[in-house]
Amino acid sequence: MRSARAEIALAPDVRRVREDFPALRQTVHGHPLVYLDNAATTQKPQAVLDALMSFYTRDCANVHRGVHLLSERSTAAYEGARETVRRFLNAADTREIVFTRGATESINLVAQTYGRANLRAGDEILISGLEHHSNIVPWQMLAAEKGASLRVAPIDDRGDIVLEEYEKLLGPRTVMVALSHVSNALGTINPVRRMIEMAHRVGAVALIDGAQAVPHLKVDVRNLDCDFYAFSGHKVFGPTGIGALYGKARLLEAMPPWQGGGDMIRSVTFEKTTFNDPPYKFEAGTPHIAGAIGLGAAIDYVTGIGLEQIGVWERELLAYGAQELARVPGVRLIGTAREKAAVLSFVLEGVHAHDIATILDRQGIAIRAGHHCAQPVMERFGVAATSRASFAFYNTRLEIDALVEGLGQVKEIFE
Ligand code: ALA
Repeated sequence: MRSARAEIALAPDVRRVREDFPALRQTVHGHPLVYLDNAATTQKPQAVLDALMSFYTRDCANVHRGVHLLSERSTAAYEGARETVRRFLNAADTREIVFTRGATESINLVAQTYGRANLRAGDEILISGLEHHSNIVPWQMLAAEKGASLRVAPIDDRGDIVLEEYEKLLGPRTVMVALSHVSNALGTINPVRRMIEMAHRVGAVALIDGAQAVPHLKVDVRNLDCDFYAFSGHKVFGPTGIGALYGKARLLEAMPPWQGGGDMIRSVTFEKTTFNDPPYKFEAGTPHIAGAIGLGAAIDYVTGIGLEQIGVWERELLAYGAQELARVPGVRLIGTAREKAAVLSFVLEGVHAHDIATILDRQGIAIRAGHHCAQPVMERFGVAATSRASFAFYNTRLEIDALVEGLGQVKEIFE
């Protein structure tokens, strides 16, 4: 165990890293921006903006198609980004990394290919009560199509999945398990390694929605032994509209393609089309080349700071934030799981979450209010909405102080 002092010495130099983010330098309604909505999307470092600019001003050409120099450069950069994602997730092979529009599309891809090919009437898909709509609706749609059923492992009052119940729900009919690594609404870090192992014991395939995990935790898909892992670029300081799906090679090879079009074919006649190998089999049409390159730059940036270092600082912010929010009379934290990532969801007695977010915005403080695309989580806690402050490594204790002070002003208005 490291001492607390040794631990904090590892934290990134926040003042310095903030300089890498042009958007953080602005004022909003006359106040310095306090950006605490990182679970919705993160700000982008200059390195990502430079990578996008360089692609569009120098290397802009389609990939895998041209023999000219620009196309060679763009293909090399695009495939280089795939290698960066592979390393980031510690996947065995770049064939296991499919570029998608984001975590949502990755999950839909698996539902519509692996799911459609392998589910039969009476089969079961198991998710948890913590899921984002993106990890509920694609499975509901698939279950309805196939006559399968969706089972849900409950969560307790802290926002932890009840593991005994999860285990009881696994059985011979469970074909697919789909779980978030980190909950977007509550910040719970799920013990996914253990849960995947349990799923494998009954022969189910496990997909992990890592959208909220990759900005905060070191992910190793081989260590987790997940079958699929989905994430979005924009939550990890990359561009919007790009993300990735990791899939074990033998599964991707056996899966039918999803969308038809260019790049996913080997040969086409009017009678028959033969398909390309993974990952290209799942990348129909011109991909988001610039996005993939930007995502590669974002991952290089994040790994340059170090996920361990990021974790140290974010745990510090989370502990400080929870302590300070608890001082505000009428505030109740929603989600107090044993293991949490950088999310503080709360309600303030007598004030609607949207009013809180609107008043804070006038003070330059950006948080999210609402159901966070996780309506069943809200229902479980008996609230219509929460206010959610979510951190990244560039946030500071002073910004948490600003939030707490802002809440004081909200209370004054409503008292
Ligand atoms: N899933 C994103 C969030 O939690 C949009 O805010």
